[in-house]
Amino acid sequence: MRIRQAERSATRSFGTRVTAESIPGIRQVPRTGVIFVMHEAAKEGFVYGHPEWANLGQGSPETGDLPGAPPRIKEISIEPARHSYGPVEGALDLRQKVADFYNEVFRKGKKSQYTYKNVSLAGGGRTALTRLAASIDACNIGHFIPDYTAYEELLANFRSFIPIPILLDREQGYRISLETLEKEIAGRGLRLVLLSNPCNPTGQVIQGQELKSWVDLGRENSCTFVFDEFYSRFLYTGEPGEAVSAAEFVEDVETDPVVLVDGLTKNWRYPGWRLSWTLGPSKVIEAIASAGSFLDGGANNPLQAQAHILLDPERAKQESVAISKHFRLKRDFVVNRLKSMGVRLASKPQGAFYVWADLSDLPPSIRKGIDFFRAGLQEKVITVPGVFFDVNPGRRRAHSRFANLCRVSYGPPMESLELGMNALQRVIEKATQ
Ligand SMILES: Cc1ncc(COP(=O)(O)O)c(C=O)c1O
Repeated sequence: MRIRQAERSATRSFGTRVTAESIPGIRQVPRTGVIFVMHEAAKEGFVYGHPEWANLGQGSPETGDLPGAPPRIKEISIEPARHSYGPVEGALDLRQKVADFYNEVFRKGKKSQYTYKNVSLAGGGRTALTRLAASIDACNIGHFIPDYTAYEELLANFRSFIPIPILLDREQGYRISLETLEKEIAGRGLRLVLLSNPCNPTGQVIQGQELKSWVDLGRENSCTFVFDEFYSRFLYTGEPGEAVSAAEFVEDVETDPVVLVDGLTKNWRYPGWRLSWTLGPSKVIEAIASAGSFLDGGANNPLQAQAHILLDPERAKQESVAISKHFRLKRDFVVNRLKSMGVRLASKPQGAFYVWADLSDLPPSIRKGIDFFRAGLQEKVITVPGVFFDVNPGRRRAHSRFANLCRVSYGPPMESLELGMNALQRVIEKATQ
C-alpha cells in the first residue's frame, strides 16, 4: 500500500495524521510514537491477541510463564477497605516495601537508607513521569536523542522548563563520555537530566563505575539525574539476574540529586497493573505527590495490596534470572534473523528488549522506517519507525533524524517473534522482486 505524500510529511513532522474535525476549544493532541503505530495497525485489522499478527511495535514484555520464573499471579482478592481512595503517594506499607527492596538489593551496608518517605507510587511509568514533569522548576533540562518516544510530549506540555537535546552519536555507540556530559551540564546550565537506562531504543546501558561517575557528577554540579530504570532487569552483559540502578551509588538519599523511576510494567512483566514508583529525596516525593493530587489522584488501590509479594527480593531475583536468560535467547534470535535479511544493527543491544535497526541496505522502497512499517502492516507485523525516537519537544527543530532506522521489539513470546521475522522476510522479498 502506498502512502500519500501529504500523509508522509505529516507523519514525519508531526507524528500523526491530522484527521479529526476541529472541535471548539479542543487542540489536536498528536498521536506520537507507539500510539500512532498501534492506531495505524488497528486500521489494518490488528487487535490484541490476534494469532496472525506479530506486535513487535509496542514495548510490551510477554506476560505468561517463563522457564524458571516464579508463578504468575492468577487470582487476586480485594479487601473491602481497598475499594476506597488510597493516598495519592500510595499505600504506606507498599512504599516502605519498595524502599526495603532497594536497600536490600542495591544499598546493603550503606549508612543512608531509603524509607517510605523516599517513595511515591503512581499508576504506571508515564503517570510517574508526568507527575515529575509537573514538578520541574523553571530551568534548562537535558534529554538525549534518541530516547523513549513519550518524553517528547511529556517535555512539551509543561511549559515551566526548557528542554535541551543532547545528541548521542551512532559512531560513539549512542554513548556519551563523562567529559562531554559535564560540558553539556555546565555549559548549558542544566539543572536536571532525564534519560532511560537501559535505553529505549538503543539498548545501551550505563552501569558500574560509569554510573557511579554520573551520580557523582550530578552531586558536584547540582544537577538532578532522573534515571528511568524501567528496563533495569533486562541486562545481557553480565551474569543472568543482575540489575542496574543508580540507587547503588547514591551516598545520601536525602541530598543526592538522584530520582529513579521504575515499576511493574517491564521488570516484573505486569504492564496491565499500571503500578510504578519514584524514589528520591523526600522533598521530591512531596512535590510529585502534590502534582499527583491534581493530575491523577493515585494508583489503583486494590492492586497495591497484591504487589508486596512481587517485591520480595528473592522472588524478584528469580524473575530477573529467568528474564535475562530467556530474553537473551530472543535477542539473539531476532538479531540473527534480521542480519540474515540484510538489516544492520545501529547499536548492539545490551539491555531492554529492542533492536535499533538500520534499514539502509534494504531495497529503496523500504529503506525508510515509515515505509518499512507500512509494508510490514500488509504482512501483519508491527515495527516502529525510527523518526519517533528523535525526541523533539514542541517540534522546535524542523530537521528530523533516524529516517532509515526502526525499532523492533523482542518483548513478545518466541512464537510471535518467529511469526514476525517470517513476515519481515516476506516484506523484504517482495520489495526485492
Ligand atoms: C523507558 C520507558 N519508561 C517508561 C515506560 C512507561 O511505562 P508504562 O507503560 O508503565 O507507562 C516505558 C514504556 O514503554 C519505557 O519504555
